[in-house]
Amino acid sequence: MSELIQLRDISKDYGAFRALEGINLQVNAGEVTCVLGDNGAGKSTLIKILSGLHPASSGEIIVDGESVDFSSPRDAIGAGIATVYQDLAVVGQMSVWRNFFLGQELTGRFGTLREQEMRSITDQQLREMGIELHDVGVAVASLSGGQRQVVAIARAIYFGARVIILDEPTAALGVKQSGMVLRFIAAARDRGIGVIFITHNPHHAYLVGDHFVLLNLGRQVLDVPRSEVSLEQLTVAMAGGGELDSLSHELDRG
Ligand SMILES: Nc1ncnc2c1ncn2[C@@H]1O[C@H](COP(=O)(O)OP(=O)(O)OP(=O)(O)O)[C@@H](O)[C@H]1O
Ligand SMILES: [Mg+2]
Repeated sequence: MSELIQLRDISKDYGAFRALEGINLQVNAGEVTCVLGDNGAGKSTLIKILSGLHPASSGEIIVDGESVDFSSPRDAIGAGIATVYQDLAVVGQMSVWRNFFLGQELTGRFGTLREQEMRSITDQQLREMGIELHDVGVAVASLSGGQRQVVAIARAIYFGARVIILDEPTAALGVKQSGMVLRFIAAARDRGIGVIFITHNPHHAYLVGDHFVLLNLGRQVLDVPRSEVSLEQLTVAMAGGGELDSLSHELDRG
């Protein structure tokens, strides 16, 4: 179990508002770390810090044992950290292969795109991940939400990510497509990648998670390995430990 990233005592202020306080997180190779929490808990803020979009207000980010300073997404990508955003994962009107190579196109001597090569690599990579498209030239918009997430994950793996951050990849998906994305998360883990999986859904988290962190109003209220927590405990903790109980009394039709 080798450590890839460690966050130490990270806090984030947006003006006078403290969005995160005293967050500690460790990401290991070949493990899925789940970050859970209700709306506004600070999950996206945390990954924005890790992906170089926002600087932390205080605390330290350690990559491979050394303290780093991410001043842009480029720095995070350079450290092998790839982030798949729910909406920005891909460009809808562009073809699958263009998306796959977006920003990292293979070009010939005069800057011409090596289209055939990029098409066949895309096709082969997706096949390896269990996705068969009859044509990688179709627009991404014509793929299902789950397939889009998978294309984004496959791309991150192909370009050498060591850490993949997924922000609510299953939030908008039905059962079958969520299953596909979860299988993919497990496949990335099995390749030795450190996965950070952000979700509202304790069931999804528990299907693939090795470690669970629960945020509530910017604070870390739970930080446990899988061996120390059951799905039931995770679900209760997510629901605010009893909030759903009192709601069920309130809504009780008697
Ligand atoms: N750029 C910003 N400026 C000011 N406040 C912000 C900013 N981004 C987030 N916040 C605030 O920080 C808190 C945490 O937001 P964040 O987006 O990290 O939550 P989240 O856990 O990702 O929620 P959700 O589940 O709804 O995506 C919220 O109260 C939010 O309003
Ligand atoms: Mg969010």
